[in-house]
Parts: sequence; structure tokens; C-alpha cells
Amino acid sequence: MTNIYPSRHPLVSHKLTRLRDKNTKPKKFRELVREISALIAYEATADLLISPRKVETPLTTTDGFELKEKIGLVPILRAGLGMVEGVWGLMPSAEVWHIGLYRDEETLQPVEYYNKLPIEPTVSVCLILDPMLATGGSAVSTVDVVKRWGVSRIKFVAMIASSEGIAVMQEAHPDVPIHLASIDEKLNDIGYILPGLGDAGDRQFGTA
Ligand code: PRP
Ligand code: URA
Repeated sequence: MTNIYPSRHPLVSHKLTRLRDKNTKPKKFRELVREISALIAYEATADLLISPRKVETPLTTTDGFELKEKIGLVPILRAGLGMVEGVWGLMPSAEVWHIGLYRDEETLQPVEYYNKLPIEPTVSVCLILDPMLATGGSAVSTVDVVKRWGVSRIKFVAMIASSEGIAVMQEAHPDVPIHLASIDEKLNDIGYILPGLGDAGDRQFGTA
């Protein structure tokens, strides 16, 4: 598999195990989502472009850098919301553009219900945030939306993906790298990731 980047960081492995644990309560779950998101986003942004800029220290002037690209964070509602804070902390000048999608429980197809993107793109690189890539439908649809908006440099940042979901994304959008904590075995017969962590939205918002 090319363009797929499972984190090998020990902190990610440790925190992901606590995230999967069915005894982890929403408050802790949200904390872990925030922390893992930041760690994965740190790895996902290693190739962001920078330009040189001078900086005056209290002692002298020296060469430094600043981010060259305008970054957009695109959380997929609801579950992607919990990833924003951790990633935003690393890049506070990023814009946040929400996309609302839910998965129809019968067909497992994504249904779009919120999109307020302006006509012209305002950023040059987008990090799409969603903890779960299951059948891949929601991910493919969101990348479609962002590409139609006019942004071609896109990274998908997740916690867990199924191998089926990755294959679907790679077929539709082979140019979009996927950064995540784990690639899990398979989907069950109602489209949930195994072993997974259950419903990422419900576990964050206490709505299970
Ligand atoms: C979950 C998850 C993804 C989607 C993944 O959202 O956060 O967006 O399912 O499934 P897929 O790869 O099969 O499309 P869900 O539809 O449960 O909505 P929610 O975040 O509002 O709970
Ligand atoms: N959405 C989730 O929240 N969890 C899954 O396992 C699949 C889709």
C-alpha cells in the first residue's frame, strides 16, 4: 500500500489502546482523541512548505522560517469535531471548514447535511479529520467535496481505518495520503470496524 502512513509512535500505540477500551468514558475518550490527533497531524504535516524569514532575537538578527501554505482543517461532523482542538493547537492560524455527513444505517452510504464552503477556495492544503474510515464512503465523499472546492493538496487524518475502507479510498483518490493510528482487520456485517473502538461519535458525545 502506498500513500498510507500508520503511525509507529509508541505514544500513539499506548493511547490508541486506551481509546479502544470499552471501559474508557467519554471525558477520557475525548482527551485521547485530542492527543492522538495532534500526534498524527504532527507526522502528517512533515512536508508542509516553509519560506525563509528573518527574526530578531533579543541579541541579534538570524534566519528563520514561516509556514508558506494556508492550511484548512476539515472535520467531518460529528466525530471529526473532537480532532479539531488537538490539531488546531499545532497550527492556530488554520481555518476550520466543517462538512456534515452521516452514514445511512441501512445503505451505509454517506448523506451530506452541512457544507458552507465559500465558492472560491481560501486555503491551499486541507487536512480532513475523521477518526473512522470504515467502508470509505464518507472519506471519498468529503475528498470529492474538497477537490470540487478547488483544493488539490489534501491529507486524510484518522485514528482507525479498515483495510476495505483504505482500498476504496485508494481506488477513488490515490493521490490523498492517509495518516492514521491503526489499520484494522475488517468490517463486521453492519459496517463497523473490527476490532475498532465502536461508534466514535457516540463515545465522544456520550450518546451511545
Ligand atoms: C462515522 C465516522 C465516519 C463514518 C465512517 O460517522 O465518524 O464519518 O462513520 O464510515 P464510512 O467509512 O463507512 O463512511 P457517522 O456516520 O457514525 O456519523 P457521526 O459522526 O455523526 O456519528
Ligand atoms: N463509524 C464508527 O464510528 N465506527 C465504526 O466502526 C464505523 C463507522
